[in-house]
Amino acid sequence: MAMFLVMMMMLVADTTTATDMVEETCGRCRRSNPNVNYTLCVASLSSYPGSRAADLRGLALISAMPLRSALAAISSSATDLRDTASPGSPVRSCLDACLGLFRHAALELRSAVAAVESWRYGDARTAMSAAVDAPVTCEDEFKDQAMDPPPAIKDKSNPLFQQGVISLAIISLL
Ligand SMILES: *[C@@H]1O[C@H](CO)[C@@H](O)[C@H](O)[C@H]1NC(C)=O
Repeated sequence: MAMFLVMMMMLVADTTTATDMVEETCGRCRRSNPNVNYTLCVASLSSYPGSRAADLRGLALISAMPLRSALAAISSSATDLRDTASPGSPVRSCLDACLGLFRHAALELRSAVAAVESWRYGDARTAMSAAVDAPVTCEDEFKDQAMDPPPAIKDKSNPLFQQGVISLAIISLL
């Protein structure tokens, strides 16, 4: 009975520590970079079951998942818009440029994950920094042509950037 109680207490203690790990990590990220949205950080990491048992390196890998989804979502919108834009139009050329940026970001993201997996944190940070810039650079493509980015791009751009900032901040703690 005593043994059972001890084990229960250990389990409870363990769960508490796991929850705190996400919050503590997001808090550290927020302190190192004021652009980190703490609420989004805790919500997005906690939504992955693996985050309960993850260490900092595990959380860095988990943080790449919502980033990958956000990147896929904006790429898909950009592809749809591009396919309906008139050939040779400025909008179409901006969308082509954005698609190139997103493809490049997807490759950088994959490199960042591979680098974290093989403990090359400096490389991970460099690759992730490159990936994070993509949505901002895409919006700039339109602004440079004195155009507003299409709403489907604009709406997905900031969430993507925010996820990227979180991922980069976690990698920077490694
Ligand atoms: C932070 O993220 C939460 C959850 O996604 C969102 O509701 C909130 O508006 C965000 N805050 C800022 C300043 O972007």
